[in-house]
Amino acid sequence: MRILVVGGGGREHAITWALRREHPDATLYVAPGNPGTATLATNLPIGATDLDRLADAADAYGIDLVVIGPEAPLAEGLADRLRAEGRLVFGPSRAAAQVEASKAFSKAVMERAGVPTAASRTFTDLAAALAYVAAHAEPLVVKASGLAAGKGAVVCATRAEASATVEAMLGDGKFGEAGKVVVIEEFMQGEELSLLAITNGEGIVCLPAAQDHKRLGEGDTGPNTGGMGAYAPVAIATPALLARARQDVLVPMLRQLAAEGAPYNGVLYAGLMIGPDGSIKVVEFNCRLGDPETQVVLPLVKRGLTECLYAVAKGQAPTPLELEAGAAVTTVLAAEGYPDTPKKGAPITIPATLPEGVTVFHAGTTQDADGTLRASGGRVLTITAVAPTFAEAQARSRAAAEAIQFPGKVWRRDIGWREAARLD
Ligand code: AMP
Ligand code: GLY
Repeated sequence: MRILVVGGGGREHAITWALRREHPDATLYVAPGNPGTATLATNLPIGATDLDRLADAADAYGIDLVVIGPEAPLAEGLADRLRAEGRLVFGPSRAAAQVEASKAFSKAVMERAGVPTAASRTFTDLAAALAYVAAHAEPLVVKASGLAAGKGAVVCATRAEASATVEAMLGDGKFGEAGKVVVIEEFMQGEELSLLAITNGEGIVCLPAAQDHKRLGEGDTGPNTGGMGAYAPVAIATPALLARARQDVLVPMLRQLAAEGAPYNGVLYAGLMIGPDGSIKVVEFNCRLGDPETQVVLPLVKRGLTECLYAVAKGQAPTPLELEAGAAVTTVLAAEGYPDTPKKGAPITIPATLPEGVTVFHAGTTQDADGTLRASGGRVLTITAVAPTFAEAQARSRAAAEAIQFPGKVWRRDIGWREAARLD
């Protein structure tokens, strides 16, 4: 078994950790990886979007499975390229990755598939977009259609704010190419759920449902981020709700993508809004595992992940996963200035002993020659705790997140607050 994981964030550390846990003897490479993955695998100094060198490395190292973590290489066609060269790949084609890379495409496919989602319109023209804002009720959500690292959706309480956001994207070029097409949609009330479906386009095996915390501040306030923490499983994701999500969202979306010449293979991430009445609507699709959701869902897979990834990469139906009984909570530690202008270089201190069941996943770190770890990205570390109960997992993740120090550390102490309130 010779597996190459593409990417270098917390998600890829968690993927590598999960593969290593199942297969202590496998030969694992990560490109580019990070100081965390270096403890489990061989890091290759190749960027996640350097398609030529990744293809060469897959050849040179005799890789039999490539697992692609981030959206950027998927959107650029890495999976197509490797498959054309005869390699097994876990991750969708460039065409199918548009479910994430183009929100305009994603909304159009949802509409044709009859998948429930917020009413929306897509614009490239500033005046037309402003006229639409003026004619619609507050609040409104304005989204850059292209890839924006989870920061391209702005929930606008007022029309004035929505207009200013539209101006910034279509007028001033904030978000660059990604913001040249803008989706404006109605605001949906409710609670979010991340449902990660492993699929060959027909068979579906869902990972435990997770909940992310997209806002920077405690109590879900402040700007959207890539995600400040997550937990799984989520009590509102009952078997009945999951069955409806499969039937009303996953199955029709996969069918429609296939019908449109973009059959899906990999993980389809459905970001769902569960309304107060139990209704399910899609907030977004992503073409990959979530970050930081991966850091809670993979530690809950007891057995079967590697086999499942190989099966799907071969085009076969995903094989079943055996799950742990407990709960997982992960707390993100971000750099000072995140999400706008994260500062690099802060030295990190991790205590020698952390609470039981805690794993520290590296997201944006570098290591000096003397072993000193430093913050090098927006999200620096994600601290996962697995425990028999949600409350214990939450307490341990928080305690470990508190104990790990670096100057300017930005983090939320309230990861899982909705679940905690439910279980009170
Ligand atoms: P997206 O990039 O589309 O996932 O949006 C990022 C985040 O913005 C979501 O996870 C939600 O928290 C929020 N959001 C996006 N669209 C909506 C919407 N229509 N209604 C309410 N919240 C939304
Ligand atoms: N945590 C949200 C995402 O991965 O897009």
